[in-house]
Amino acid sequence: MTALELARGPLTEGELDDWYAVPDDADPGARWVRGSFIATLDGRVTGPDGLSGGLNEGSAGDHAAFGTQRRWAQAVVVGAGTARSEGYGPLEGCLLVVVTRSGKVPESLRDHPDVLVVGGDGDEVTPARVLEAVGERGLHRVVVDGGPALFGAWVAAGAVDELCLTVRPVIAGGEGPSLLPADVRLPELLGRATHLLEWEGDLLLRLRLGA
Ligand SMILES: NC(=O)c1ccc[n+]([C@@H]2O[C@H](COP(=O)([O-])OP(=O)(O)OC[C@H]3O[C@@H](n4cnc5c(N)ncnc54)[C@H](OP(=O)(O)O)[C@@H]3O)[C@@H](O)[C@H]2O)c1
Repeated sequence: MTALELARGPLTEGELDDWYAVPDDADPGARWVRGSFIATLDGRVTGPDGLSGGLNEGSAGDHAAFGTQRRWAQAVVVGAGTARSEGYGPLEGCLLVVVTRSGKVPESLRDHPDVLVVGGDGDEVTPARVLEAVGERGLHRVVVDGGPALFGAWVAAGAVDELCLTVRPVIAGGEGPSLLPADVRLPELLGRATHLLEWEGDLLLRLRLGA
């Protein structure tokens, strides 16, 4: 069982950068892939508005963690579904990678030097293909921003080293997308939490998925 680090927020920006540093036992120059999500206690990833914005509203901890992930990331990978519904634009200081089968990518993300669109010929895009394209650019700190369909494919392929998950203490109930599609399971998570930060009632977890 991994040792669990515990803390209570608020943390400063510098403390957050330390809190979210890649683990000491990981090769410092090697690639590290981090999934980043916010969910309710029952695992729903959208609020009443059908978007993640309805979940993270009012969560100072999640906003701080999100900002930390953005400072850390050299590449942010997102499914075209999330890029469309959440209105993604190019990101400051890191590459945005949009994964698509259909090629239906918002106009603002086409032909932009800081955006890489992978796929579009109707076929599934493997994580290996994305990671190769990102690696060719010398980038190795990768955040997978979702959504569930994309994250499911990456978990199924064993391509995610860790999950950074904000759990809001609310039950959504009813229907709605959850963290993973129905046919994908995370590896056994018991003993896999390495960090737990409590911040105004929200629980910010780091869970190690890879070896
Ligand atoms: N709570 C959170 O942290 C969080 C994070 C992200 C998203 N969300 C929510 O999740 C919902 C979207 O869910 P979703 O599962 O539809 O999102 P998604 O995975 O972003 O979008 C699915 C689409 O992405 C592309 N895609 C995904 N995996 C692919 C693969 N392996 N190969 C090729 N293309 C692939 C396809 O695009 P094409 O259709 O273009 O072929 C697919 O239709 C939204 O409501 C969003 O707000 C929540």
